[in-house]
Amino acid sequence: MSNQIPEDVISEIRQSTDIVDVIGEYVQLKKQGRNYFGLCPFHGEKTPSFSVTQEKQIFRCFGCGKGGNVVTFLMEIEDFSFQEAIRYLAERNGIELPETALNTENSLSEENQDILSAYEWLTKLYHHLLRYTKDGKEGYQYFNERGITDDIIDKFQLGYAPNVNDFTTEFLKKKGYQAQTLVKAGFLSLHDDGHVTDRFRGRVVFPIRNHLGKTVGFGGRTIHDQEPKYLNSSESDLFQKGKMLYNFDLAKKHIRKLNEVVLFEGYMDTISAYQAGVKNGVATLGTSLTEMQAKLLKRYVDTVIICYDADKPGIEATYKAAVLLRQVGCQVKVANLKDGMDPDSYINTYGPDAFQHEVIKASHTFMSFYMRYFKRDYNLSLEGDRINYIEKILQQLATIESPIEREYYMKVLHDEYHVSMETLKEELEAYRQKLGTKKDKRNRERNTNKKTATYASKKLLPAFHNAERMLIAYLLQDSSIVDKVQEEIGASFNIDEHKIIVTHLYAFYEEGNPPDVSLFIEWLTDTHIKQVVAEIAMTSLQEDINDKELNDYIRLIKTQNSDMVHLESLKEEQRIAEQQNDPIRAAQIAMKIIDIHKQLSKSN
Ligand code: CTP
Ligand code: MN
Repeated sequence: MSNQIPEDVISEIRQSTDIVDVIGEYVQLKKQGRNYFGLCPFHGEKTPSFSVTQEKQIFRCFGCGKGGNVVTFLMEIEDFSFQEAIRYLAERNGIELPETALNTENSLSEENQDILSAYEWLTKLYHHLLRYTKDGKEGYQYFNERGITDDIIDKFQLGYAPNVNDFTTEFLKKKGYQAQTLVKAGFLSLHDDGHVTDRFRGRVVFPIRNHLGKTVGFGGRTIHDQEPKYLNSSESDLFQKGKMLYNFDLAKKHIRKLNEVVLFEGYMDTISAYQAGVKNGVATLGTSLTEMQAKLLKRYVDTVIICYDADKPGIEATYKAAVLLRQVGCQVKVANLKDGMDPDSYINTYGPDAFQHEVIKASHTFMSFYMRYFKRDYNLSLEGDRINYIEKILQQLATIESPIEREYYMKVLHDEYHVSMETLKEELEAYRQKLGTKKDKRNRERNTNKKTATYASKKLLPAFHNAERMLIAYLLQDSSIVDKVQEEIGASFNIDEHKIIVTHLYAFYEEGNPPDVSLFIEWLTDTHIKQVVAEIAMTSLQEDINDKELNDYIRLIKTQNSDMVHLESLKEEQRIAEQQNDPIRAAQIAMKIIDIHKQLSKSN
């Protein structure tokens, strides 16, 4: 593979990288036996079929077929080029790359690269102005008065855009950026007469970083009660509000550690909470939670604590977000905020400890939120309303998996509305059965699908095909059998993909490489072939292959091979006989062909 990064550096990067750590930043992985499993990030699924082996440093999805090593994973999920993936891993592991290897191949368009670097400049500039200059003093004082410390201002690179119409434009033009690019980047406003002004002038600026920590947008808040209170960069390729979450890059490691994420509505809430020690918080970007964001969270965690404003719109938004999150399979909790407060005002009034313990740790279950939420729709002093309400609650309660939780809320209903436990149980059971039949049906459908899928991939494979796969699997883990296989079969495998794989594998070993699937995958160039190798490598094998097994495989492959060769030559003979107008001979040959087909299908 062509690249300017020296082989020994790449090898150092590979050795210091663990695929489980890297993929673990994208997928919640759970260990099962020798492998790790999680929800595939490349296709939508509710039961995990994505697997990672630490031992072989490869991944493979049994649902969609994607597979490879850590570099292929990053290339696939981040749209990185090979060099970008290597650079990313180097940075992650604190390995320095030689100068010549920097700034080469890039998967982003030139314009998007310009936009990213313009954001980088501006982030630094606005932050510097706020922290150290007279021009930014107002912004600094603003954060100060809101109780944000210097450390946090630095960590979140908070800044101030001076109240001068063309400050940003002039600064960036001097750096060589095109006006057009700057408009596209979203931090200038284009007016009807064609002139541009700084979009965030006179506002404090919240850099919005993507999951890799690069600023791709700004949120700007007025400090003089101007409308609108918040302004965001306009949407672009790099900044899509419905797809990203504020502070995801910093929160990621805390989210993973706690297996919980706190979801806020605002930038200030997220930052304030971070300062108060709740570091696993992220926020939407001024829009309601999207399915894409919900699914993103589900990939990382089981539990989402919603911590929105405790006012009417906040509660409505909480309900919508909760329903969406439950649909994608998350457990939902709702933070225990006092009426009318938002997280930031709570922290400023009651302090960080109270926020941690009485708001976040004291979160309500989804069910208890749900019961409160629907109470206001009913006049519970009326018997009819009361019954409807109880039924509504029981219907929802039926979807709760934990029997203890179900029992608990039945008891709550019993105590509050004096309905007997027996009646409640009966009703709940009825709802659960209805749900169960639906679910069973879904499961049945899913299971039948699964069965056909495994049959197609395993059982229905002809014997010679399986033999080829097994032999390749052994060849991948044991280079000592290579000579024998190469001598006996060479590249004469019957399946084209296998031919390609063994040809490369022979060459790979001839170069003195050790048996290392991940390294081999990197060595290959074709994505499809990489995937087939990852799939074959996931086959579980005995430690060593014994001679009998090895010879059996070789024999099966060879027989198939000679039958195929024989078949081809017979077909040729048949064609000649037909050409020479010799129907009897042609018919004799046809009989032989049928015989071989019969033989083949028997041995398969
Ligand atoms: N928002 C927005 N445009 C607005 C108002 C709000 O994009 N005109 C988004 C911002 O991302 C903001 C979030 O919605 O962070 C929450 O809005 P709001 O609750 O009004 O703001 P707070 O988070 O309370 O901000 P602050 O404490 O600074 O007033
Ligand atoms: Mn607020």
